[in-house]
Parts: sequence; structure tokens; C-alpha cells
Amino acid sequence: MNAIEIKDLWKSYGDVKALRGVSLEIKEGEIFALLGPNGAGKTTLIRILAEGLGYDKGEIRIFGEKLSKKTARLIGYVPQESIAYDLLTVKENLEFYADLYDAPKDKIDALIERFELPAKKKAKELSGGFKRRLNLAISLLYDPKILILDEPSTGLDVPSRRKLWELIESFKEEGKTILLATHYMEEAEALADRIAIMNEGKVIAIGTADELKALIGEESIIQVEGLLKGIEKLREEFPKLIEKDGILRIQVKNPRESLPRIVEILISQGSEIKGVKVEEPTLEDVFLKLTGRGLE
Ligand SMILES: Nc1ncnc2c1ncn2[C@@H]1O[C@H](COP(=O)(O)OP(=O)(O)OP(=O)(O)O)[C@@H](O)[C@H]1O
Ligand SMILES: [Mg+2]
Repeated sequence: MNAIEIKDLWKSYGDVKALRGVSLEIKEGEIFALLGPNGAGKTTLIRILAEGLGYDKGEIRIFGEKLSKKTARLIGYVPQESIAYDLLTVKENLEFYADLYDAPKDKIDALIERFELPAKKKAKELSGGFKRRLNLAISLLYDPKILILDEPSTGLDVPSRRKLWELIESFKEEGKTILLATHYMEEAEALADRIAIMNEGKVIAIGTADELKALIGEESIIQVEGLLKGIEKLREEFPKLIEKDGILRIQVKNPRESLPRIVEILISQGSEIKGVKVEEPTLEDVFLKLTGRGLE
């Protein structure tokens, strides 16, 4: 059974074409990630599913039924921005949203416990990680079968991110279907059973992380670390190149010939190279291969 089926979905904001013919099938019980850079159309897709944002063309089914007010109850939604009221406590926020959603209040204490939330603290006093957890708890008040999260770990530190990932995984174990948008390949890779790579309003590849990496095919990844200079010069000869946090990743067909040439160019430009290796591809390398640029 597919939890979500999307066929040929189009959406424009005036002249901006945010979605250009997206088709996806998300199976019941899987964690599915939309991975793509800023402006790819992830939030637009999510808002259509979770907020009832209008669209121009396409077909959407939730557990086989047309997306409608009736199917809205099947979906819980954690937007990127917090919806908690700053001046209400954690528990008051949950009670407020239970009233608004006409959801039972008897689960509130269990949610507070499961999310290890401080019931009496005001929302404005919560750290980013706890605030995200409160929003997740709010989205679960009416026990939806599908959970949709927009950039769940943006802005969180590593421990809060891990805690949130654990919680998301525990909902999968209970049989919920999870759709999340992210531009962190680590997040997609750590959590998702399948990933759709989005760019400029389209899905450009879809599959498990391993299936996507297989798209790199014959190409190898050379990784260079150090105080690197002359990267723009290197790009003239090796255009498939990403630099992040002082690490350079270059896609090449023939590492034996390319590697000495890459080192030669970098050194001639005054680089101090600390290490060089031939690496396994990452999802960012897949994105680079498909689009000619990096994810961020
Ligand atoms: N309300 C809006 N009005 C006009 N244009 C919009 C609106 N929302 C999004 N857009 C445009 O639609 C395109 C897709 O944006 P969207 O927010 O869906 O991307 P995204 O993948 O979620 O990006 P990000 O990673 O930055 O969150 C972008 O070009 C964006 O500028
Ligand atoms: Mg977004």
C-alpha cells in the first residue's frame, strides 16, 4: 500500500515554477527523504501535502484517497518554524493544540514523558532541540499515520540532532510513514529508507542511498585535504569539484592519470597538501554528477 502517491504535480508562485511535474510513491511504513538544495521545491511539496496549499495541476492520494480535508487527519506536520506559543508552558501548548485540533487530551502526559519534555517550562525557555521535540509532540496529538517534517534538524547541535533522529526512528518502528525534507545528506543517509533528490522543482533521482551512489558509475572520487590554493584553476580542468570545510572532492573517470595532475596544479598554485585519497562517493557527489553543482 502506498501512503502517499503524487502524480505530475505542478505549482507556480507567479512566474516562479516551484514544482515542475513531480511524481512520487511513498510506501506505508518507510522513512522517505526529499533531499535538495535551497529552492528545490521541498517545502512547497510538503505544504501542499500538509497545509492544503493549492497547486496548479496533478493528482495526490493519501492511502488511496484523494488529498482532502478528510485525509488531513492522517497527516501530522512539523513545519520548519516552531508553532509553539512562547508564553505558554510545554503542557499548556499541548493542551492548546489538542483543543484546536479537537484531539483527546489523555495522551498529553505520555507524550511529555516520551519526549522527555519539561512540562512546566515556558516554550520560550526551551533550547532549539527541545522546542523541535515539543513541535513533534504537537504533531502527534491526533495520532496521525503519516508524519511530515520540514528540515527537522536544521539549527540543532549534534546531540539534539541524534536524539531527534532516534525519536523519528521510533515512530517508524510503530508503523508510521515518515516524509522529511532536508538539505543535509547525512540526515537523509542516516534516516531514510529511500531518498528523492530534488533540484529546480523536479525529482532528478530516486532510490536507496546505495542505489543513488551507484549512479556515479565509473567515476572515482579523489579527496584532497590541506591549505589549498588554486581551486578555481583546478576547476578549469576538473569541473566536477566540490570544496567544503577545507576538503576538496573531485569526480574523475581515471584516478591514476588525474591524481598526479591534480596534485601538480594545486602545488604549482602554492597549496600545502596534507592528505590525498580515493574515496567512496557520497550523496553530494551524486548530486554533483547529476547537476554539475554542490548541494548547499
Ligand atoms: N510563498 C512564496 N511566494 C513566492 N515564491 C515562493 C514562495 N515559496 C517558495 N517560493 C519559491 O519557490 C521555489 C521553491 O521554494 P521552496 O521553499 O519550496 O524550496 P525548498 O526546497 O524548501 O528550499 P529551502 O531548502 O531553502 O527550504 C523557490 O524559488 C522559492 O523562492
Ligand atoms: Mg524549505
